[in-house]
Amino acid sequence: MSKEFYLTTPLYYVNDKPHIGHSYTEIIADVLARVGRLKGERVFFLTGTDEYGQKIAQAAAEQKTEIHAFVDANAERFKSLWSHLNISFSDFIRTTEPRHQKVVQEVWRRLHERGDIYKGHYEGLYCTPCETFWPAAQVPDRLCPDCRRGLESVREENYFFAMSKYQSWLLEYLDAHPGWVVPASRQNEMASFLRGQPLNDLCVSRPKSRLTWGIPVPFDAEHVTYVWFDALINYISAAGWPAPGFECRWPADLHLIGKDILRPHVIYWPIMLYALGLQLPRRILAHGWWTVAGDKMSKSKGNVIDPYEASARHGVDAYRYFLLREVPTGSDGDFSWEALSTRYHKDLADDLGNLVLRALHMIQRYLGGRIPAAAPQPAFARDWTGAAQKALDDLDMRRVLEVIWEKIRLANQAVEENKPWAMAKDPARKKELADFLYQLAEQIRRLALALWPFIPVSAAAILQQVGARADAFENRWVEMEKWGVLQEGAVITVGAPLFPKDKSVESARPG
Ligand code: MSP
Repeated sequence: MSKEFYLTTPLYYVNDKPHIGHSYTEIIADVLARVGRLKGERVFFLTGTDEYGQKIAQAAAEQKTEIHAFVDANAERFKSLWSHLNISFSDFIRTTEPRHQKVVQEVWRRLHERGDIYKGHYEGLYCTPCETFWPAAQVPDRLCPDCRRGLESVREENYFFAMSKYQSWLLEYLDAHPGWVVPASRQNEMASFLRGQPLNDLCVSRPKSRLTWGIPVPFDAEHVTYVWFDALINYISAAGWPAPGFECRWPADLHLIGKDILRPHVIYWPIMLYALGLQLPRRILAHGWWTVAGDKMSKSKGNVIDPYEASARHGVDAYRYFLLREVPTGSDGDFSWEALSTRYHKDLADDLGNLVLRALHMIQRYLGGRIPAAAPQPAFARDWTGAAQKALDDLDMRRVLEVIWEKIRLANQAVEENKPWAMAKDPARKKELADFLYQLAEQIRRLALALWPFIPVSAAAILQQVGARADAFENRWVEMEKWGVLQEGAVITVGAPLFPKDKSVESARPG
């Protein structure tokens, strides 16, 4: 069997409900999964939830909810949001599932047998929310360098994963594989980190006396697995390791992560894979963070943006479009209701919506609502699929959309310049008019296919309206590159505008 195109998102912590930051990772992944399907690849798009660890146990206790009921309810919130946002994942893995637990235990056994896991003592400071140990020398103020919360002193017996012995191997790997982490600045950041200090061995267990909510260490009933060590393994457990068939998925083509979780993915995980004798993922994309009015989103600040609310403003497609268009994929972004509305009105309603509406109305009015005979490809419809492809290869979602929008603008400009309404008044220009409207409809068809991964519902509606197939999308990338696919006589449908202007900012704004 040929290899699947395998892409992953991080597993989201179930200590709280999802917010726009989580949905951002998920939407990028969904776009890439849909692009894969358009290209005829067999796509395995994995997402899920990270359910063990002290942070989750504490959150359940605070809410006085039994832990299993707590994680079940919160995992369901992620699943429902993904279905609301039209996320087309292939599998949803929860770290509390037996299929995952047994793989984590197998990893323990193999690494222990190889001598890569050993028992030792840990003494130092610990950040519970981040599940991270900090050497006292690095934290003179006793505050966590990542989240700035207070640290606890702990001394305990634990198991360690011997990462230090792989430090120079990993550094050489990073140096030999530029472009492995996208953007390159993130790869450099990790390489400098490795160059700058000796790598500590990773503490991969927690004593049961302190934490019971974890996957038991298979050969020591007194310990459970450290949550990061458990969670990273999902990428191979969901792919079926170590059973046959795993090689149809692994190595993953892309791990999609936020910039905050680079270290586990670019340092711990590659070393774990190498120690297990497995290949490394082909690429890792680290996206930036969303802030709100320049501030980090947090419950205490009360500025957390709810994806349901944000997608209710102008629709799910507008929300997906906004997040991917507003900032370059590796950079940070700032959310505001005004920016969301501006994108909706300018790009979706004025540029795309108008183009489609004008074309449909003219075909209705001048050609009786049927697609005319094919006409040659005009200048305004040339030379863009290569640029879109290049941007996709670079994992630059915003650039793909810019390329498409440039063509939408050119098509709108062609309408202004060619003035089909003037052609319609002159019987001698009948063929010219039909040719131009064919060109317009055919280019709209191609653009809608390119837009399908980003705004799937609107793109399918556009395809249906211009008389193209809108029921299946597998293997249709070629149709996007081709010219002359719309069939003469195909019936168009003039529906209600896809991006109505009257859904105004103010009227939809809650509170
Ligand atoms: N459970 C770990 C990941 C384990 S992967 C084996 C985790 N979970 S998380 O829920 O905290 O974050 C999941 C993803 O959401 C990360 O990629 C993170 O970058 C992303 N985001 C969380 N808040 C975000 C923003 N404010 N903006 C953009 N993305 C953010 O880490």
